[in-house]
Amino acid sequence: MEVKTKSLLDNMIGVGDMVLLEPLSEDSFIENLRKRFDHNEIYTYIGSVVISVNPYKSMLIYTPEKVEEYRNRNFYELSPHIYALADEAYRSLRDQDKDQCILITGESGAGKTEASKLVMSYVAAVCGKGQEVNKVKEQLLQSNPVLEAFGNAKTVRNDNSSRFGKYMDIEFDFKGDPLGGVISNYLLEKSRVVKQPRGERNFHIFYQLLSGASDDTLKKLKLDRDFSKYNYLSLDSAVVNGLDDAANFRTVRNAMQIVGFMEDEVQSVLELVAAVLKLGNIEFKPESRCNGTDESRVKDKNDLKEMCELLGIEQSVLERAFSYRTVEAKMEKVSTTLNVAQAYYARDALAKNLYSRLFSWIVTRINESIKAQAKTRHKVMGVLDIYGFEIFEDNSFEQFIINYCNEKLQQIFIELTLREEQEEYIREGIEWTNIEYFNNAIICDLIENHQNGILAMLDEECLRPGTVTDETFLDKLNTVCAEHQHFESRLNKNSKFLNDHSLPHCCFRIQHYAGKVLYRVEGFVDKNNDLLYRDLSQAMYKANHTLIKHLFPEGNPAKVNLKRPPTAGFQFKASVGTLMRNLQTKNPNYIRCIKPNDKKAPHIFTESLVCHQVRYLGLMENVRVRRAGYAFRQAYEPCLERYKMLCKRTWPHWRGPAREGVEVLMADLQVPAEEFSYGRSKIFIRNPRTLFFLEERRRQCLQDLATLIQKIYRGWKCRTHFLLLKKSQIVVAAWYRRYAQQKKYQKIKSATTVVQSYTRGWQARKLLRELKHQKRCEEAATTIAAYWHGTQARMELRRLKQEVRNKHAVTVIWAYWQGTKARRELRRLKEEAKRKHAVAVIWAYWKGLKVRREYRKFFRANAGKKIYDFTIQRIMQKYFQGLKKTLPSMSPIDKNWPARPYIFLDGVHMELRRIFHLWRCKKYRSQFTDEKKAVYEEKLEASELFKDKKALYASSVSQPFKGDYLEISKNPKYQKLNSSVDEKVLLADVVNKINRANGKGTTRILLLTKKNVVLADQKTGQVKANVALPDLTSVSVSTQNDGFFALRLKEGSASAVKGDFLLSSEHLIETITKLHHIGSTASDGEQLNVDISDEFLVQFKHDKVCVKFIQGAPKNGNSVSCKRKNNRLLEVSVPASA
Ligand SMILES: Nc1ncnc2c1ncn2[C@@H]1O[C@H](COP(=O)(O)OP(=O)(O)OP(=O)(O)O)[C@@H](O)[C@H]1O
Ligand SMILES: [Mg+2]
Repeated sequence: MEVKTKSLLDNMIGVGDMVLLEPLSEDSFIENLRKRFDHNEIYTYIGSVVISVNPYKSMLIYTPEKVEEYRNRNFYELSPHIYALADEAYRSLRDQDKDQCILITGESGAGKTEASKLVMSYVAAVCGKGQEVNKVKEQLLQSNPVLEAFGNAKTVRNDNSSRFGKYMDIEFDFKGDPLGGVISNYLLEKSRVVKQPRGERNFHIFYQLLSGASDDTLKKLKLDRDFSKYNYLSLDSAVVNGLDDAANFRTVRNAMQIVGFMEDEVQSVLELVAAVLKLGNIEFKPESRCNGTDESRVKDKNDLKEMCELLGIEQSVLERAFSYRTVEAKMEKVSTTLNVAQAYYARDALAKNLYSRLFSWIVTRINESIKAQAKTRHKVMGVLDIYGFEIFEDNSFEQFIINYCNEKLQQIFIELTLREEQEEYIREGIEWTNIEYFNNAIICDLIENHQNGILAMLDEECLRPGTVTDETFLDKLNTVCAEHQHFESRLNKNSKFLNDHSLPHCCFRIQHYAGKVLYRVEGFVDKNNDLLYRDLSQAMYKANHTLIKHLFPEGNPAKVNLKRPPTAGFQFKASVGTLMRNLQTKNPNYIRCIKPNDKKAPHIFTESLVCHQVRYLGLMENVRVRRAGYAFRQAYEPCLERYKMLCKRTWPHWRGPAREGVEVLMADLQVPAEEFSYGRSKIFIRNPRTLFFLEERRRQCLQDLATLIQKIYRGWKCRTHFLLLKKSQIVVAAWYRRYAQQKKYQKIKSATTVVQSYTRGWQARKLLRELKHQKRCEEAATTIAAYWHGTQARMELRRLKQEVRNKHAVTVIWAYWQGTKARRELRRLKEEAKRKHAVAVIWAYWKGLKVRREYRKFFRANAGKKIYDFTIQRIMQKYFQGLKKTLPSMSPIDKNWPARPYIFLDGVHMELRRIFHLWRCKKYRSQFTDEKKAVYEEKLEASELFKDKKALYASSVSQPFKGDYLEISKNPKYQKLNSSVDEKVLLADVVNKINRANGKGTTRILLLTKKNVVLADQKTGQVKANVALPDLTSVSVSTQNDGFFALRLKEGSASAVKGDFLLSSEHLIETITKLHHIGSTASDGEQLNVDISDEFLVQFKHDKVCVKFIQGAPKNGNSVSCKRKNNRLLEVSVPASA
């Protein structure tokens, strides 16, 4: 058996379809709803109608998985759900080409808007996909947040109450892909703009704008974020729990963008919203006129001014429109003043009109965006989310209109349900039996009848000349409708003199299909008239604002229409008429929403409240109509599939047509013939009892079947398990045996190997022993042989040695003997030679003596001098040649000189040394250039001046005298200074000029030419002093290692005005030498004195100061310090040189 789907009838909590309720009563109906609600089953069917009870909590029944579950499934196949209805409607639209409408009704807060969004989102999820289709879907879905922002508000009954009726046609192509849509809006509750009941708010957009807009936007709109600044915004519930106005504002702006609003359009819309808020803040004060009447004047013009700026209206025009009213009658124009009350009335009327027209414009604008592009015929699915029946304590014109609309919807519901029922019966060939039900056409007639309907009376009263008040309207109703059985007023219909005291004054009561409603006539005439003074609409038309101009076309003076605009009632009746005609062409699907409690809280089910709604929604009526003929119907195939297990002939397979199978089944079950009928494709079951009988039998049968299946399954499972065990056991045994044999074989194999190895070992050892023995025998024989041969050899050796020894002894003895003989011969020969030599020497001496005696006389005369000269010459020759080789180097400072070889050469040797030194000095000098020569001359002069006189001299010897240390001619910095000196600069250096007052030094440039000493500023090069050399008498320096020197000037000379100069230089020796040199080479020949002393006097202006040099401890890096000790003493401390 195959049970494919979970049916509506499976796992039922209560009953899923009220049609099956047994017994049917209001109590059982509500009890069923409660039971299901307690188990989170918020949806229940009445046939194809879905009842939805608001859970007031989020439920996990709208997930994508749920969408998939309900997709392409039959309506009754799964437990009740709004998706089942949406799927049914969508599939009949797509597959059967039937236009659909989904009518969602219920009281405020019952969940209509949520339901409509669920339907739309389901359809969006299951219909086709693709870039274009997705865009259309997105636009359709995003129209909701925009409309909710402008058309919804928090009320005491619902935090997001729709304050307008909405009907949306969604258009599809032949494939079922959405193409676009058209939205119609009905009767926006515009009175909310200017006044809200206690605990309620104005439309969401006002709060969203103030909370969510950026500071910049608010500034542009001249708004303040504080709600309390605006008279039109109620403060007691400005902030709603769970409602994030700021975030919603962003959502709305985003949605507007998606829907297709241009940025400037959004801006215009926000400007209008801001203008309404500003309008609410305009207040009036009375101003007496000369004719005694009061005329209104705007109190504080600031808000008026800002509003006019926002909308581009001329302030004076609008201000006048709040003070005067022009009435045009035929060719005449009469202007009357407005009192304060009238001005407020005009202001509020303008605000209401402004907002409601803006809302209608937004709907039109959305329609423009979402309208279907393709011109082909569309399939249409309409979704109607309209206010439900309203019964308040205080019911006014709005409730009257709303309830009228609901009467019409009930009428269409009855009409279409019955028509559908009837059509199905005809289609299925079942006989139609008349159904008794209440037809509310009579109530609709009471309201909308053209001649004497309440709306017609109201219009007549509004258009009537003369004084028209709500009371005159009620009087009219009393006369015209008094006889109507659904109309009641205080004046009893039976007698004008007997009053119905249950009715207050100024009220009338209508007995609607859903219950009696008492209406207060106050405001009926006014609201129906919905007047906006022409001056105001003209002022609006003059605005320099495209949208405002567009919203008030009647303000165009060129199109003045003296006819009154249609009344609100008339307009509503007309639009309801259009809506009804539209709905009648479509296949209806109903969602009836019920609100379980007044607290907006989950888990609370207030029976009295639900009972009230069940009554006025006519749900009992609904069930009765559904059950009037047959309570349940089902196509043959699913019916046979569900119940085939109840009959042996149909179980498990029925091969013939499904209908015959069902007939066999019913016959077999002996269901009485009057309990069901066979239609063409469905079986119709009259009574729910019969269905429950079938269900009960099925349940039992399923239990038996389950037991049987269990039994077979268990047997099969055990058998299979056993066979598996058996098979496994064989495999395991085979594997084990193989394993055991393998083990045994391996054991034998290893034992054999051991035995084998032992045997082989033993054999090998035996062989080894034999081989070892054999080898030892061979070795012993060899050893013995070796010993024998050794003995033999040694004996032979001994014999040979003896023989050799003997031979050697003979040789040695022979040699000794020969030697002795030779030595004796040698001694004899030597003796003989000595004797011969002695004889020869004695002979030579004797001969020599003889010769010397012969020649002594010649030698003494000549040879002695010659030999002497010769000897001297030889010695000198040798001396010079030796000196040539040992000459010292050519350096004049080389002190080496070779030693003299003979004392007699002492004088020559010293002379030669002197000559050589002079010669090499000359050679050395001859290489000098003129400049170098001059330098050496200066150095020489320095040496003459300072050597052994000043300690500083020693360190100056190795320093070259550079002269121009500043490179004065090349350095551009000193160009000016250079050019101010005529002569060639002989010395340019930086010196310290010692301050006479404190002994501190100041850097100066010292230039020395042949004629002058110039002192100049080091930084600027400016000449500070120019002393002609003839003015210098002497220079004083110390004996120590310092650079101080005093230039002492001739008394009375031009340069001596400021006194002598005490200076310090790094190149003192060079400077003084140069100065001295110039003096000595000058033409006048006046020498400059150089005084070297550790104490000298210096003339400072008029004082003579003693400069004293003392030896200080070496510190501060050997620096010289100079201090003024007193007026007469300047002490220079020179560290002792190391
Ligand atoms: N199916 C649902 N699941 C969860 N919460 C719901 C559901 N239906 C309604 N609600 C809750 O109830 C509140 C009121 O619902 P909704 O606005 O749809 O009421 P309504 O019938 O449109 O009322 P009105 O006539 O005032 O516009 C929602 O804001 C939401 O919090
Ligand atoms: Mg709503």
